[in-house]
Amino acid sequence: MTSLFYITLILLSVTAAVNSCPPSDRAALLAFKNALHEPYLGIFNTWNGLDCCHNWYGVSCDPKSHRVADITLRGESEDPIFERAKRTGYMTGYISPSICKLTRLSSLIIADWKGVSGEIPRCVSSLRFLRVLDLIGNRLSGDIPTDIGRLHRLTVINLADNLISGSIPSSLTNLSSLMHLDLRNNRLSGTLPQNFGRLRMLSRALLSQNQISGTIPASVTTIYRLADLDLSMNQISGPIPAPLGKMAVLATLNIDFNKLNGPIPPTLLNSSISNLNLSSNSLEGVLPDVFGPRSYFTVLDLSHNNLKGQIPESFSKASFIGHLDLSHNHFCGPIPVGSPFDHLEASSFAFNDCLCGKPLSPCGH
Ligand SMILES: *[C@@H]1O[C@H](CO)[C@@H](O)[C@H](O)[C@H]1NC(C)=O
Ligand SMILES: *[C@@H]1O[C@H](CO)[C@@H](O)[C@H](O)[C@H]1NC(C)=O
Ligand SMILES: *[C@@H]1O[C@H](CO)[C@@H](O)[C@H](O)[C@H]1NC(C)=O
Repeated sequence: MTSLFYITLILLSVTAAVNSCPPSDRAALLAFKNALHEPYLGIFNTWNGLDCCHNWYGVSCDPKSHRVADITLRGESEDPIFERAKRTGYMTGYISPSICKLTRLSSLIIADWKGVSGEIPRCVSSLRFLRVLDLIGNRLSGDIPTDIGRLHRLTVINLADNLISGSIPSSLTNLSSLMHLDLRNNRLSGTLPQNFGRLRMLSRALLSQNQISGTIPASVTTIYRLADLDLSMNQISGPIPAPLGKMAVLATLNIDFNKLNGPIPPTLLNSSISNLNLSSNSLEGVLPDVFGPRSYFTVLDLSHNNLKGQIPESFSKASFIGHLDLSHNHFCGPIPVGSPFDHLEASSFAFNDCLCGKPLSPCGH
C-alpha cells in the first residue's frame, strides 16, 4: 500500500516535470528573446516562469514530447494585444542562432515586424523538422542559407519584403515538399535554377521585384500543381516557353516588366490562365488568332510591347475579358465588334499605330 503510494507520488512528479518545456528549450527561447526588442506591445513580458509551453505568447509545444514546436510571432494580427495597443507591431534586433537549439521546431514565423534585421541564421538548415519558415516583412539581409535544401519537410518559405540578396541556392530544388515559395520584393540576383521543375508540390512561386536574370527554365512547365507564377519586375530575358499555356491549373502568370522577347505563344491565349500580364517586355509579332471559349481573362495586359498587326476576329469568341490593356504597341486596323469589347475604354487601345472603331474614333478617316 505504502509503496504503491510512493510509486504514484514519483509518477506524478515525473509527469509534472515532463509536462513543462525542457530547460534547454527555455534557455534557447530566452536567448532568442534577448536579441530582439519589441517596445510597443510587450509580447515578451509573457515569457517568464519555468514552463515555456504555457502562456508564453507565440510559443507552442508538442503535446507529447513537450518540445517547442512552433514560434508564431506576427506583427500584424487580430490578437487582443494589438487591439489594446491600437497599433501594428514593430520590433528591432536580430534572429539569434540560439533558435537552432530548438531542434524539434516545426514552424518559425516572425512576420511583419518591419525592423528585424541581420541575416537568417545559417543554422536554420539544421532544423530538420521545419515545415514553415515565414519571415515576411522585416529588414533581413544576407543570403538565403545555401543548404536550405536539406529541410525536406519544408512546405512554406516566405521571405518576401526583406533585403535578401545573393542568388537562389541550387539546393532549393531539393525541397520536394515545398508548396509555397514567396521571395517577392528582395534583392535577389542570378538566375533561376534550371531544374526548378523538381519542386513537384509547388503551387505558388512568387519571385517578383528582384533582380533575377536569365531565362524562364523550361522545367517550370512540368510542375503539375503550379497555379500562380509571378516573375514580374526582374531582368528575365529570352522567349516565353509555350508549354506554360498547356499547364493544368496555372491561373495567374505575371511576367510583366522583364526583358522577354519573341512572340506570344498561341497556347497562352487559349489556356487555363485567367490573369495574364505580359506588359513592359519586348514581345513582338502578331496577336495569335486562337481566342475561344477557353479564353477567360479577368486581366489580359499586353501593353508596352512591340506587338503589331490586327486584333484577331477570334477575340470576340473569348468567354470573358475583364480588364484588357493593348496600349503602347503597334496594332493597326479595326477593333472587332462583339461582347468583350462592349465595356472597354479607349485607354485599353491607346498609343498604337492605327487602331480604329469603337471605343476609338470610327475607321475610314
Ligand atoms: C540534393 O539532394 C541529393 C540527394 O539527397 C544530394 O545528393 C544533392 O547533393 C542535393 N543537392 C544540393 C544542391 O544540395
Ligand atoms: C501589369 O504589369 C504592369 C508592369 O509591371 C503594371 O504596371 C500593370 O499595373 C499590370 N497590370 C495589371 C492589370 O495589374
Ligand atoms: C484551345 O485549346 C483546346 C484545348 O487545349 C484545343 O482543343 C483547341 O483546339 C484550342 N483552340 C485553338 C483555336 O487553338
